[in-house]
Amino acid sequence: MKYDAVIFDFDGTLTDSAPGIINCLHFALNNLKFEVPHESVLRKFLGPPLVDSFIRYCKMSKEDAIKATAEYRVRYLTKGLKENMVFPGIRELLFSLRESASYLAIATGKPQNSSEIILKHFSLEHYFDKVVGPSENDHFADKTNLIQKALDGDRGHTVMIGDRASDINAAHELGIDSIGVLYGYGSKDEIIQANPTYIAESVNDLYSLLGVKRTENNRGYFITLEGNDGCGKSTQAVLLFEYLQSCGYNTVKTREPGGSEVAEKIRYLLLDRDNMGMQDMTEALLLAAARAQHVRDVIKPSLTAGKIVMSDRYVDSSVAYQGAGRMLGMDVISQMNAPAIDNCVPDLTLLLEIDSSTALRRRESASETDRIEMMDDGFHARVEEAYQKLALLYPDRIIKIDASGELEQIAQSIISVVSERLEKAGLP
Ligand code: TYD
Repeated sequence: MKYDAVIFDFDGTLTDSAPGIINCLHFALNNLKFEVPHESVLRKFLGPPLVDSFIRYCKMSKEDAIKATAEYRVRYLTKGLKENMVFPGIRELLFSLRESASYLAIATGKPQNSSEIILKHFSLEHYFDKVVGPSENDHFADKTNLIQKALDGDRGHTVMIGDRASDINAAHELGIDSIGVLYGYGSKDEIIQANPTYIAESVNDLYSLLGVKRTENNRGYFITLEGNDGCGKSTQAVLLFEYLQSCGYNTVKTREPGGSEVAEKIRYLLLDRDNMGMQDMTEALLLAAARAQHVRDVIKPSLTAGKIVMSDRYVDSSVAYQGAGRMLGMDVISQMNAPAIDNCVPDLTLLLEIDSSTALRRRESASETDRIEMMDDGFHARVEEAYQKLALLYPDRIIKIDASGELEQIAQSIISVVSERLEKAGLP
């Protein structure tokens, strides 16, 4: 590792926060009845202090610019900060840098409290020794001061990484090295003119410029979502997937029955309402067969490649639905599935729970039910009971989620459980 300390800018360097920032600019300008400039002008707001940009590009007075910034923040703190994603590869880079034990900090023009909320949202906070941003009311924060505070004394050989000329200029003033990145919001001309020590076209280039070795990660993580029909699991699976992607995790979303080409063909057989004559044992064996294919085609290869795999249903569904619902026996189904899953047990299972009357209402209002969903209430009550037994049997793996509230609130409980587990598992 070439440096003792690495200081990062935030927006445009670690995260692609443009969508959130631009939406909030629209919100603030509309509320104050100012004309919204063209998108190319709005993109110039990305990086420098907002008040400066409102004065410069919207011809506002200082008072109006301060009012506009306050309006902006109202939306930013509730919505804007989540319309954001970690640039692909940044997570792994921070992981590798952490392994080399250098001092890592952030110096950003974004208020300190928003920065901390975003870092926490993306589970990135543990990578940094210090995060420095201005206070809410400091509208003209100077990058040089921010970097100095982030360094907090002499840290030895130091580099500042940023996407705007202001980052590079501040580094020059402090006599430290700088890397201008071209994947952010500054133009190539802007960066070249600022004359950084190095230029990085991509996140990948940062490895060689920093002299840091890529830490190989071949430890994947396997998450399954389970629950009775009508628990809202598939909607939550989409929200969790979007969240994990936005955090920069390499994530694969899949489902059962199905999830790979051959397994999807078996799914069709299983759910087709024309196959009413299918024997329960045939159903259980077909589910296990589809799973054997899915595990080998998708789940295992993705985990070996260090990815997060999240599957909407897995073997617990068979134990609950065929074992208890169809009354084939929970143990019989577990044993039947052992060779199918070939030791591929989930690291975490989220069991979504709602009361049975809500589940029934949702099932009844579903536009089309498949052959298995069509089963009677007794069947679904047995499935429910089996899930409870499984949760008691595997308390470390199966975490119950109360899925009766608002969509957003349920998504948030799922995210807290998952982030905590991923961090514990030592994933990048
Ligand atoms: P799916 O269409 O994915 O429905 P949902 O959105 O409720 O998950 O699943 C189809 C049905 O298959 C569902 O009723 C649950 C059932 N099923 C089993 O009976 N056993 C299993 O092993 C699996 C994976 C699903």
